[in-house]
Formats: sequence, C-alpha cells, structure tokens
Amino acid sequence: MSRRFIQMYKTCFDKFRLPKRYQGSTQSVWNEYTQLFIEYQPLSLAHGFTDSPVPKYITDTLAATAKSSNHLLNQYTRDSGHPRLVHALSAMYSKLIDRQIDPFNEILVTAGAYEGLYAAIHSHIEDGDECIVIEPSFDSYAPVVKMCGGVVRYIPLRMKNPNNGIISSGDYVLDDTELEEVFNSKTKMIIINTPNNPLGKVFNRAEMTKIANLCIKYNVLCVTDEVYEWMVYDDNEHVRICSLPGMWERTITIGSAGKALAVTGWKTGWAYGPANLIAHLQIVHQNCVGTNVTPLQEAISIVFEDEFKRLESPECYFNTLRLELQAKRDFMINVLKEAKMEPIIPQGGYFILADWTALEDKVDLSSETDPQRDYRFTKWMIKNIGLQAIPPSAFFNEENKKLMENFVRFCFVRKDENLQKAADILKNWTSK
Ligand SMILES: Cc1ncc(COP(=O)(O)O)c(C=O)c1O
Repeated sequence: MSRRFIQMYKTCFDKFRLPKRYQGSTQSVWNEYTQLFIEYQPLSLAHGFTDSPVPKYITDTLAATAKSSNHLLNQYTRDSGHPRLVHALSAMYSKLIDRQIDPFNEILVTAGAYEGLYAAIHSHIEDGDECIVIEPSFDSYAPVVKMCGGVVRYIPLRMKNPNNGIISSGDYVLDDTELEEVFNSKTKMIIINTPNNPLGKVFNRAEMTKIANLCIKYNVLCVTDEVYEWMVYDDNEHVRICSLPGMWERTITIGSAGKALAVTGWKTGWAYGPANLIAHLQIVHQNCVGTNVTPLQEAISIVFEDEFKRLESPECYFNTLRLELQAKRDFMINVLKEAKMEPIIPQGGYFILADWTALEDKVDLSSETDPQRDYRFTKWMIKNIGLQAIPPSAFFNEENKKLMENFVRFCFVRKDENLQKAADILKNWTSK
C-alpha cells in the first residue's frame, strides 16, 4: 500500500469517526445474541417475543386496513399520532388512570417504546443533568442519557430476604437510604420500569409512593417504561405512577403495542403525559421519525377499541394473555427447579431469572473469553446443549454487573411444545 493511500485512509478514518457523544456505547446484547442464534440455531428462550402465531383477528385487521377502499390509510398520517389511534389510547388510559387524557396534546405515537424512551430522554436531559436508573435496567436507558450529556446515577434492586426459601421478584427492593441519597438538586429524571425486564418485579403502591414523594421533593421528572403493563400475575397490581397524587405533572408513561398485542415487529409505541412535556418529545420525534406507519396505527386502533369494550370480560385479549402467560411461567419455574437452577419467581413480564450456581461443575467455561461469567455460561449453553438465554449482566453498569452474574434470563412467551423442548434439553443435560 502506498504511503499516500495510507495517509488518505487515516485522514478519512479520523474525520469520519463515531461522534464523541456515541463513543463508549458497545454492541447491544440483542445484536450479539441474534448473531449467535443465526450461527448456531439453538432453541431460543432469549429474545422477548412470542414464537406463536399472532391471533388471526389482529393480523386480519391489518390486512383489511391495507386493502381498505380508504386509500389514505396507506399514506402519511398526523405526525404525533394517527387520530384514530390517539383517540383509542386516550379512551383506554383515561379509564385506567381515572383522568381525562387529551388525545391531541397529551399522547405521542412513537416507533416502538424504544423511540418513546429516546424522545423522552433527548427532550429533557441536558449537559450535567443527573438521571437515576434502577438496575437491572433495560439496556437502552443509560446510553441515551449519556448521549445527551447526562450523568447516570445507578441504584440496584437488592434482595431483601436472602434466606427465606422461595424467592420472588418482590423480594428485590430499593434500599430506602440509598434511594434518598441518589436524589439531589441536579437530579432531572428517574427512569422506572414496571413490570421490570429482566427481573419481573412489579413495584407495589408503597414503593411507588416513596419514589413519587422523592420526585416531588426534588422536582424530578419520572419516565416510566410500562411495556409489560398487561402481564401481571397472581394478586399483584400494576400501579401507574402517573396516577399518584402530584405525579401527572411530572410523569411520561411509555407503552408498546408490540408487547401488548404480541406484535413486536409492528414497532409501534406511545408516550403519554401532560401537554407541556409531550410537546418536547414531539420536537425530537418530528425530525427523526416524522410520521409512524399509518396502516399499523389504524389496525392497532381498531384492536384497542375492541379490547376496550370488553376490558372487564375474561374474553379480553389482555386477560387471556395474562392467564396463558402465568401458566407458562409456572411451567418454567418447575422446569428450572428440576434442573437445579433456582428461579426468581417473576410477578410480571415474561422473563425468569434463574441462578445456575449449582450447575457449575457441569460446565466448562474455559473456552469462552467474555469477562462476565453469565456471558460465558450462556454461550456455553448455546454451543453445547443448543439452548439460548440472555446474560442478565447486560442489564447492569460495570460496577453492578457482578450482582447477577450467576443468573441467566429465560423468556417464557413461547409455544408449550418449545417450553417442553427446553425442559427436555435441561433434563438431558443436568441428569447426566
Ligand atoms: C423494558 C423494555 N422497554 C422497551 C422495550 C422496547 O419496546 P418496543 O419493541 O416497543 O420498542 C423493550 C423490549 O424488549 C423492553 O423490554
């Protein structure tokens, strides 16, 4: 290679580097584990989407919308959200939070919850602002805060009763003193996720009230990621923090049609909250996504309108989904126990964390080079027993990764036959 060519290459390389604001972000666990799936074709209990067909009436609604004689349903619609969808969302959430939500000013339709989170953070975090992130946390929160020049203050959920036998995600709590200490005059935002991915924790009313009181005391904005709001089990209650006294004015709630209707590929979500805050998100949204996909929004509106009418009925999709998932959760809990993995029983969501320490002498992690033990363990499983799960340390910052390195995250929104296959794989391996 000539010296001139090398010089030219270097000049381009320097100039076209990744901007500083993105530096430090590494490849997401989803990219890496999708690639591993393509390469090794394991049975996947990794990614958070169902392997079952979507209910026919949902896909039929989309097909009918795309073929509708109203040709405008295949053209751009209103930037902030298709009128029919914002009305459907307003009807649903006004009832759930017992407050009238203005469809045109208090809701923004986004490209999945991802974009809702991105817009909420981008439109409110400035250089030096502090943002509290509760760990384990969905892995997009912290990188986006940092991109905006914000400082992330992490606070982990800690197990309260390590020796009480059966462990539930409810046994993981925030320490009151740590929580109070993480708030200060620079705190601009806290991000909550309930039900939590990957832990399955559903924050109860008392826990929410403590967070709410601190938000009010320190004048902090609350971004609450509630994409698993319909998947809450046993007698646990999904508490929407925006409905607590003094919280509507300072809360942006994020939802996802992908998760609610098991159509993650539709990538449609929303943010709702007071008009002054939602207007800021719209500024970020209009220069990035602009308008979301019209036929998808129309189809989601129709499904939401129908489900809203039968919200209290056992036939409502959200109610059948919850029962179906609870049975799958219970099946997986038994499978994991039999395999000597100690599960943390999730109160919500569709993931289970399980401790694999007792299986340590059945794996040889020396062939894997990742610094985290759970990455090595999950890669060993993919390559040696053909089962894929997610390493939960991906949901922690460097300092706290050790907290869950002995755990693995399984997704249980799978066909019964595939959960049975996972059971057989684990049995064959662990009974040897
Ligand atoms: C906690 C959490 N928030 C947000 C998202 C992203 O949701 P969407 O697919 O609607 O962008 C996910 C996806 O897995 C998630 O688990």
